[in-house]
Amino acid sequence: MRVLAIETSCDDTGAAIVFNGRKILSNVVSSQVSVHQKYGGVVPELASRRHIESIVPIVTEALEAAKVTLKEIDGIAVTQGPGLVGSLLVGLSFAKSLSLATELPFVGINHIEAHLSAIFLEEKPPRFPFIGLVVSGGHTSLFHVDGFGKYKRLGQTRDDAAGEAFDKVAKLLGLGYPGGPIIDELSKTGDPKAIRFPRASLGRDSFDFSFSGLKTAVVNYVKSHPEPVEDYPENLVRDIVSSFQEAVVEVLVKKTLQAAQHEELKRIVLSGGVAANRRLRERMKEEASAEKMKVYIPSPSFCTDNAAMVGVVGYEYLKRGIRSPLSLNAFSNLPL
Ligand code: KG4
Ligand code: ZN
Repeated sequence: MRVLAIETSCDDTGAAIVFNGRKILSNVVSSQVSVHQKYGGVVPELASRRHIESIVPIVTEALEAAKVTLKEIDGIAVTQGPGLVGSLLVGLSFAKSLSLATELPFVGINHIEAHLSAIFLEEKPPRFPFIGLVVSGGHTSLFHVDGFGKYKRLGQTRDDAAGEAFDKVAKLLGLGYPGGPIIDELSKTGDPKAIRFPRASLGRDSFDFSFSGLKTAVVNYVKSHPEPVEDYPENLVRDIVSSFQEAVVEVLVKKTLQAAQHEELKRIVLSGGVAANRRLRERMKEEASAEKMKVYIPSPSFCTDNAAMVGVVGYEYLKRGIRSPLSLNAFSNLPL
């Protein structure tokens, strides 16, 4: 089964052709970073407009790169939420129109489920069940995953998402957007122990997260520093971001391992944009292996938003005969 998958939940327009939910025939992502960079964050109105311009060329490119025509496609999968409604509606309306015109079945997909399933694009995916951590710009949640469509949420962030904290700290320090990859790079040469920023544990039995206190601690550090941010020596910036990153990573690793112990699971899957973070990947693997647990992390390009991961879930549902009606709506909040 060849699935045409479409992803427009935030600021990336993505289209992919995935064979039997595992093999990528093409995976095209058009980034809007240049549009939003000067605002230091995603501007929803501009994102929707750019999706409208990109959707037809990107889907065409995905078909061409896979060397298939629409006649050789068996179904359409599209992100239905959560995300920015104006962005989601572009992909969803396009998919519905295409389904109507071609009579191909289509199914709406939850973006979080797509992130959790990106690992099945890799050569050696895990067996179910596993603990799934989704860490992105909009989400930080832990799940007990028993199979496609079988999720128990164990915890989530009570305020900012981890990626949001990365983006806000980078903005505060005038480093640019998106903050995650910039902080990741700068941290390589910073001292993660230079500043002891707070780690919110919220109690041993809680698998919830909180990053707003950490963000405020960075703001307060900057405010109490005699020099303005623009005049900070390069070393100081590197130490701040490296210490901040260490605090985020430590909490993510600790809670994920605790959740795995609590659920008596030995397999852990990371996903979402922040799972591209070098330090998170490294520490999660190190600490899990000390507990005899195995960590599975998609390659960085499958961690950040892409349509191939939507194709994985789309295949699983379409092959079971699950279809969405043409009246399907987009939702900014769509719990998993
Ligand atoms: O999954 P994603 O592409 O979109 C959402 O669904 O939100 O995640 C984007 C988020 C942004 O906040 C970005 O700063 C963060 O992922 N991110 C990273 C890294 N690469 C992307 N955070 C930390 N380290 C990275 N290397
Ligand atoms: Zn995402």
